[in-house]
Amino acid sequence: MFETLSKAPGDKILALMGEFAADPRQDKIDLGVGVYKDENGVTPIMSAVKKAEETMLAAAKTKTYLGMAGNKGFGAAVLDLVLAGSVERDWVRIAQAPGGTGSLWVLMQLVNRARPGATVWVSDPTWPNHPPIVHNAGLEVATYPYFDAETRGVKFEEMLACLDALGKDDVVLLHGCCHNPTGANLTNAQWDAVAASLARTGALPLIDLAYLGFGDGLAEDAYGTRKVAASVPEAMVAFSGSKNFGLYRERIGAAILVARDGAMADIANSQMLAGIRASYSQPPDHGAEIIRTILEDKTLRAEWEAELDATRARMIRLRAKLAEAIRQRSNANDFDFIAEHRGMFSLLGLPGETVDHLKVTNGIYMIGDSRINVAGIPEDRVGVLADALIAAIK
Ligand code: LMR
Repeated sequence: MFETLSKAPGDKILALMGEFAADPRQDKIDLGVGVYKDENGVTPIMSAVKKAEETMLAAAKTKTYLGMAGNKGFGAAVLDLVLAGSVERDWVRIAQAPGGTGSLWVLMQLVNRARPGATVWVSDPTWPNHPPIVHNAGLEVATYPYFDAETRGVKFEEMLACLDALGKDDVVLLHGCCHNPTGANLTNAQWDAVAASLARTGALPLIDLAYLGFGDGLAEDAYGTRKVAASVPEAMVAFSGSKNFGLYRERIGAAILVARDGAMADIANSQMLAGIRASYSQPPDHGAEIIRTILEDKTLRAEWEAELDATRARMIRLRAKLAEAIRQRSNANDFDFIAEHRGMFSLLGLPGETVDHLKVTNGIYMIGDSRINVAGIPEDRVGVLADALIAAIK
């Protein structure tokens, strides 16, 4: 049977992670995979997470099944965190799923049950794993204009014109905040216009919310999601707890659907759960129980929010420092956009040869499209990084 197969292309983000690990240079710099790193270059376990795990270990009495939708307390807490009452509760259903990717997969399978082979519109560019997930669910991919390589901002008029021309059989995949890979995000007024467009055309929004709290704050980053969910009759949100709770390998996320009424929500939910049952039966509990424990406890929640605030502040500071270092050395403001972008990433707009050159010559690793993870910028070597970037683009 396997002789019919040819080798699958590797995932460029995960492959780069392996290349970086294998590079023996001591002074190498990892701006690749989207994993937060602290000032010591370590991806820490948040202290609220550690405390929640200790409480859980002491209190746990059983490991019996929880059901296809997973941990109910987690679901209720995440709905509150994401939607904060912006939608009638009885019209919403949530299923815990394995990470942001698992949540996207669950929701795209649901779309394929409703409209087999429907087209999912993704931003140009988007996270490289989006198209494979769409195809894996049996759906088609198309792109809408997004990133303006000149201004390093959003081509909003072109984006909106494209969305305005869609119809009710289309799905629009939006990055709820902290756009991956570009770092260029919609303003609140632009979210309002997108929500109005979706309400007009009937296209179904699927919001990928993988970086909630990494941009401007928990409520600020949820603005677009809440606005869209409150404006349209049907919506879907794929939430991830990988980054904001630092739970990467625990694979914790949630698939959220908003229907036009409670009866329709029940039907759609039954199909979503049937898809889960046929895929992996039920989600693992550990990450969900951590998040439930944190969000339901006032003290732990405050501790988590403070840690998240510090994480975000550090990324914003690193952005400002790198932009400033480049400005000082080059006497030009071409890279000021790094300070204006939000989230974990910025797309530098460098050609592939320059990205390769930086890797080979300087041990500076970024994704091939020139996406950098700002959390990987070593604060004490910002100057070294700025020098290398300037030398490489000359
Ligand atoms: C990234 O974009 O680097 C992260 O979301 C990690 C991944 O799985 O690709």
